[in-house]
Amino acid sequence: MPITTCVFDAYGTLFDVAAAARIAAEQPGQEKLAEVWPRLAADWRAKQLQYTWLRAITGDYISFWQVTSDGLDWAMEASGLYDPILRETLLALYWELPAYPEVPKMLSTLKSNGLSTAILSNGSPDMLQGAVEFAQVDAWLDAVLSVEDVGIFKPAKVVYDMVGTRFDTEPQEVLFVSANGWDAAAAAQYGFTTAWVNRASEPVDRLPAKPTHVLSDLASIPDLAGSL
Ligand code: LAC
Repeated sequence: MPITTCVFDAYGTLFDVAAAARIAAEQPGQEKLAEVWPRLAADWRAKQLQYTWLRAITGDYISFWQVTSDGLDWAMEASGLYDPILRETLLALYWELPAYPEVPKMLSTLKSNGLSTAILSNGSPDMLQGAVEFAQVDAWLDAVLSVEDVGIFKPAKVVYDMVGTRFDTEPQEVLFVSANGWDAAAAAQYGFTTAWVNRASEPVDRLPAKPTHVLSDLASIPDLAGSL
């Protein structure tokens, strides 16, 4: 079945989540952060995701902004960083994460080729709006779908249902793109055609379904979508 709709995960897929710690570490007076930022960024992301999964299992939904703040608090403590001003700086940078360089051209090409495009993310609507506007990609997105509308995080099935509800599509005509292996696996199990963007050459996740396609970045998405 031809692909009519390309749906993207946001954080880590379109937007570089490690950039907040990396950019803050370059600021004057951040010698300690400059030493530990890779660990801080990795812990922050890992805890943020773990908290989404745990809250999905226990039914304790809270906004992704709160989960992001909680993950940062854990990561700062683990790195021995006790600095409320740095905490505010890091959280503010999360609203202005850079998009990966190939994102604008990739999205504009999809739109020129007549496909529908969307984000489907754990992010809160206000965070996603901030990121999309900062990256100046809003003109090429038909929808920015947030799990806030269903009150549970990925990989709950009702999150992936949001695509069909919004676009009236069958799963097979959707190309779902994520840099998160577990998200791509869940989307494949759901029935979407999937592309896992594996920038770091990680092993494939051992989950019930495997992504249909594995890419090293997003540049080839329009060609892939056109070839299916
Ligand atoms: C998102 C997270 C999973 O954007 O990166 O949904």
